[in-house]
Amino acid sequence: MPTAHPSGWAHADGALRGPHWLREPSDPDALVPLLWSRTATKSDGVLSIGGVPLPELVREHGSPAYVLDEADFRSRARAFRDAFADYDVFYAGKAFLCTTVARWLAEEGLSLDVCSGGELAVAERARFPMERVGFHGNNKTLGELERAVELGVGRVIVDSFTEIERLADVAAELGRTVGVMVRVTAGVEAHTHEYIATAHEDQKFGFSIASGDALEAVRRVHAAPSLRLLGLHSHIGSQIFDTSGFEVAARRVLALHARAIEEVGVEMPEMDLGGGFGIAYTTQDDPSDPAQLATEITKIVEHECRALEIALPRLSIEPGRAIVGPSMCTVYEVGTVKDVALDGGARRTYVSVDGGMSDNIRTALYDADYSATIASRPSGGPPALSRVVGKHCEAGDIVVKDEFLPADVRPGDLLAVPGTGAYCRSMASNYNHALRPPVIGVRDGKTFTVLRRETVADLLATDVGVL
Ligand code: LLP
Repeated sequence: MPTAHPSGWAHADGALRGPHWLREPSDPDALVPLLWSRTATKSDGVLSIGGVPLPELVREHGSPAYVLDEADFRSRARAFRDAFADYDVFYAGKAFLCTTVARWLAEEGLSLDVCSGGELAVAERARFPMERVGFHGNNKTLGELERAVELGVGRVIVDSFTEIERLADVAAELGRTVGVMVRVTAGVEAHTHEYIATAHEDQKFGFSIASGDALEAVRRVHAAPSLRLLGLHSHIGSQIFDTSGFEVAARRVLALHARAIEEVGVEMPEMDLGGGFGIAYTTQDDPSDPAQLATEITKIVEHECRALEIALPRLSIEPGRAIVGPSMCTVYEVGTVKDVALDGGARRTYVSVDGGMSDNIRTALYDADYSATIASRPSGGPPALSRVVGKHCEAGDIVVKDEFLPADVRPGDLLAVPGTGAYCRSMASNYNHALRPPVIGVRDGKTFTVLRRETVADLLATDVGVL
């Protein structure tokens, strides 16, 4: 019988087995397809993405690097667009945004959700059609609202009474009418990490349906001549697998939608159900595909609309992670390897790579699970339970908590971590004055730079102190 160990499961032989779902690989060189972008292949232990062997990519662009598979990104974007053909699909730029990706999205016919002036500036530089942009945020500044109205964004998702007033004034001063959605809180407990759940009452987003604030917000938007009410918006959280949360939220939001039509006399032509669709980070995750999601969500909404005897609003969704998450992996070079004895005689191998919490904060912040594989040579030696850690001055600087890597993992090996497309580069930092890695696109055997690696000059550019 294994016994509980603070950092895993120690067996009688003293070996650590990791969390219950982690299996020793029967073939350490095989890829688990669900975790990788679709063009990923491994041959003789060398991982290729988009037809580019990663050792070659690293020789050309250095490490660490995020590797973005263009064909995979586009195919996931198209899969959402096609499955939700009667909806508007807004890609959530907070997951990962740059001008290249914004162009791909425009070409694939998606819309774009931005949540800051910075993301809006990327959309502008990419010449993304502004009527297809939605602007989010619980505390947009006056300057951000002015810019959004000037640029003519298609909709602003309002999040507070203060903001309704501010936006109405900005639009009136600029002589514009702005499309508005009211972000509501459906009171749902989403089964995800507390920090990324957003539909329970005790958090900062949205107007509460239960308290009556949401209906009052609808009234105020409706009463403002410079605002055009489009409908309600609900986002229950992120990395969600269970559609029952969406179901409860949709039911409550549609009930409010019907009430608003009845009591306020508004039209409410649209409704947005947000994003949050989960992806596989490890073999324990089993995400739905866009077609399944579309069928389930549409069934729920149509059923509720029939029951409430209201017309089906034009629906939209906002997937971020489910499009870009699996399209990117991160490639690192191993720098040091340390075998550490744990209480009870078990041992763990610490594999240090040339990046860490500055390029992937999700493990430290959300206790997220990732996996890793050697990308530069065939595996040798038996599998050893390993922890992939970064180079930062912090013990919590962990990239992959538990993974079986070959016991002979050594300095100079390349390691690749899949599923790092969402919320890794976009949440990257310069902690310890790390240089944020580049995003290297791959397609048909060629690489192209999407975001270049930062330089020391970039770091020092903001340091204007006088010596
Ligand atoms: N729509 C709204 C209003 C959102 O707030 C979000 C995510 C999305 C759509 C997209 O959610 P997605 O489909 O990507 O799950 N940093 C966290 C996730 C925070 C999500 C914030 N909002 C993480 O790394 O897991």
